[in-house]
Amino acid sequence: MADKIVRIGVVGVGGNGQGHCKTMQRADEAKLTAVCDIDPATAERVGKEHDVPYFVKHRDLIKSGLCDAVIVSTPHPVRPPIAIDAAKAGLHVMSEKPLCERVSGGDRMIKAAAEAGITFVVDFQRRTEPAFAKAIEIVKSGRLGKIYRRTLISPEYRSQAYYDSGGWRATWEGEGGGVMMNQSPHVLDLFILLGGMPSRVTGRTETRLHDIEVEDFAEALLEYPDGGTGYFTCSTCEAGPGQMIEIFGDKGKLIYRNGALELYEFEPGIADFTTNSEKMWGGPECKKVPVELEECERGHINIIRNFCRNILFGEERLTPGEEGIKSLEVANAVWLSAERGKPVDLPLSRTAYDRFLAKKRRESTFVKVVKDHRETDPKHKK
Ligand SMILES: NC(=O)c1ccc[n+]([C@@H]2O[C@H](COP(=O)([O-])OP(=O)(O)OC[C@H]3O[C@@H](n4cnc5c(N)ncnc54)[C@H](O)[C@@H]3O)[C@@H](O)[C@H]2O)c1
Repeated sequence: MADKIVRIGVVGVGGNGQGHCKTMQRADEAKLTAVCDIDPATAERVGKEHDVPYFVKHRDLIKSGLCDAVIVSTPHPVRPPIAIDAAKAGLHVMSEKPLCERVSGGDRMIKAAAEAGITFVVDFQRRTEPAFAKAIEIVKSGRLGKIYRRTLISPEYRSQAYYDSGGWRATWEGEGGGVMMNQSPHVLDLFILLGGMPSRVTGRTETRLHDIEVEDFAEALLEYPDGGTGYFTCSTCEAGPGQMIEIFGDKGKLIYRNGALELYEFEPGIADFTTNSEKMWGGPECKKVPVELEECERGHINIIRNFCRNILFGEERLTPGEEGIKSLEVANAVWLSAERGKPVDLPLSRTAYDRFLAKKRRESTFVKVVKDHRETDPKHKK
């Protein structure tokens, strides 16, 4: 490894992978040294644009000796073999989200990374947003008391043109799911960081507005090991601001909405007031507490730099790869529950989910219209 620089190869240089190639130029700890894309014209164009060698097969990039690490930004179902080959060759791995389209694939990636002893992270760049960093600190401090309810509402609007831009998108075969697989992993990750992992999921999915074969709407009732409950809904049919998470506890309520955070504290706590108050009307005092957000470096650049600094200096990982399994497990559980029409318990049966997905793929008759187009989301730099 060159002195204090991690040489990185990006595998899958479509819209998002190209974003990483550019973002990396702002990171002192990283240097783009190769790219790979299964589409030869894309590999060549991006390689020439950045003046680095380009490959069509990921194994050739891995064997080249040009890279210490890879960022895997292919469609999710093809990520495990690439990440596993890289780990086995001793290369560090940054996986795009979700780790994979199903938990069994995510498990294999985690196992390979652990066995190889490499640095493994997942690109959950939203963890570094000031409001979330603060929300996590508040929840971990115990200020909210026992958590009774967690709610997540996530509008994730996408047009039909978005879905038509790649043959893999929104198909059981190419993507393994819809809004829960592609758009909501970030916010589901944050929701789980704040509210914990549910132990039982009752899910429902629909394809409401788009000409796709997977869900553009999902919702679920969640039950938690501590007896609390939760609800989430996400949809690529719903537009406008309003991504919202509420965590309601015995001693307070935390509300995240569009990058802003509100904190309320109850005095006395709900259980105490309910049991001990002799008042017929009213409830505990509900006091709004000011919350100060600290500005910090955020977005993909922060994840890339942290990935490199972990490799170089052992800095604590902000987004450990192993944690990528949680949001994926909840998403997979929603589909399995929707299919069965009844709740499913976590940890999710890997065999049952693999069977469900194989059946969906086997029975698929959907004919996709593709207008192939690779374009970086303008939000990538955030
Ligand atoms: N972290 C984020 O905020 C974020 C944002 C956008 C996309 N993503 C993730 O990045 C991934 C890619 O999304 P995108 O929008 O860039 O899609 P895209 O279709 O624009 O790009 C995917 C690229 O991977 C290439 N590819 C496919 N199979 C390959 C293989 N076996 N080896 C090498 N290259 C291969 C394709 O040819 C294509 O160029 C998805 O998993 C998506 O969820 C994450």
